[in-house]
Amino acid sequence: MRAYSSLDRLLERADSLLRAATRTGAEQRRPTPGDELPDPPLGQGPRRTAAGLMRVNHTGEVCAQALYVSQAALARDEDKRHALLEAAREEGDHLYWCEQRLTELGSHTSRLDPLWFVGSCAIGMVAAASGDRWSLGFVEETERQVVAHLDGHLGRLPDEDLRSRAIVAMMRDDEQRHADDAQLRGAAPLPAAVRQAMGWTARVMTTLSYWV
Ligand SMILES: [Fe+2]
Ligand SMILES: [Fe+2]
Repeated sequence: MRAYSSLDRLLERADSLLRAATRTGAEQRRPTPGDELPDPPLGQGPRRTAAGLMRVNHTGEVCAQALYVSQAALARDEDKRHALLEAAREEGDHLYWCEQRLTELGSHTSRLDPLWFVGSCAIGMVAAASGDRWSLGFVEETERQVVAHLDGHLGRLPDEDLRSRAIVAMMRDDEQRHADDAQLRGAAPLPAAVRQAMGWTARVMTTLSYWV
């Protein structure tokens, strides 16, 4: 019974993920942070900066969907699979919020998303095939790097863009919790070389997604 519901959840996530990759609209479970805040028109420069940063964040969430679902698919322990899928659902909210904000800013998602999506699926499978402790270690490290990255965005987003800032602040808190959860569930600390390679990959992705 439990395995069946887990399969259901997996299929539900896979469906969201495919829709994310094909840009047919992400789903939303929680209200968008800052929805009640004013949205004054931004100048051309600040608007371009905000759109670039929110596009990077949207691509990060496309990657998060691919990583979490592929890791859940290959997880050996049922509880860990449930935890990965629960986190993936929260990432689905992030995906929706970023997409919605990009539309409000009159901009678009990254044209390279399908590329990052496929690459992230492959990386997620490799992480999962290494065993649950390494897979969780990968989640913890990814989430900690994302928290640092979102902190950087909070420093770069225009002060007057209250809505983007509210979204990023909420995402940051969620990612922090995802990292802490992974640690509590027994994440293995990754070797320094792997952490460094992850950082380089993220840098390539964020640089390209900002512009394209
Ligand atoms: Fe996220
Ligand atoms: Fe996360």
